[in-house]
Amino acid sequence: MTARMPLMAANWKMHFTADEAVALVKELNKGITRFDGREVVVAPPFTALAGVASALASSPIKLAAQNCHWESQGAYTGEISPSMLRHVGCDCVIVGHSERRQYFGETDESVNRKIVALVEVDLGCIFCIGETLEERQAEKTLEVLAKQLIGGLEGLGEEQAGKLVLAYEPVWAIGTGHTASPEQAQEAHAFIRDNLVKRFDNAVANQIRILYGGSVKPDNVDELMAQPDIDGALVGGASLKADSFIRIVDFEG
Ligand code: PGA
Repeated sequence: MTARMPLMAANWKMHFTADEAVALVKELNKGITRFDGREVVVAPPFTALAGVASALASSPIKLAAQNCHWESQGAYTGEISPSMLRHVGCDCVIVGHSERRQYFGETDESVNRKIVALVEVDLGCIFCIGETLEERQAEKTLEVLAKQLIGGLEGLGEEQAGKLVLAYEPVWAIGTGHTASPEQAQEAHAFIRDNLVKRFDNAVANQIRILYGGSVKPDNVDELMAQPDIDGALVGGASLKADSFIRIVDFEG
């Protein structure tokens, strides 16, 4: 099997002014000692991207945006295009986060358009999927994941798919303190991997990293990262403080 480089991503959501974000990323840059064998990404709000990009100029930490539009420009008040994000120094963009699906009407179709647009301008993409509590209780988890994968990956070829990162984020685990157990997470990740293997060439499917997200913390990251199909973490709450995110990046596993 291809070795996949673990990726630890901080999703700061709607937190921090530009100055606060720059201060935090400087602390991370100084505090993270283990950049070998792991990739680190921070996703500040749009208003902090330029400042954080210049603070990271000679740092291995990569920069992500939390959303984008699929068009490259036009009359779309309030939207930001992939090429604008590339220009400001982003390496990748989080797409389809459950908060965007829940509160801002994102659908598998709009998520797909964004993924295609990002691949076109050669920006990376962290494509999020995950089931709600009701869906899990109704034993529909795998069905929901399959549907989100079909919709989100529509029309993508092998070469494009190879550039993606997926994030499995059970909605019931996000910001709730209820992390999926390592076994629950591994089961979903293995299902996603299997789905990718069926759809794409084996080598491509095995090189796509699948992150887990949902209440990842310093005290559960090691057991999650020990699972064979968990290739990293997408971290919200525990990424807002330098100490806890540094410990997460420093996982043992
Ligand atoms: P959380 O958020 O770590 O606060 O649960 C994760 C996410 O929404 O990406």
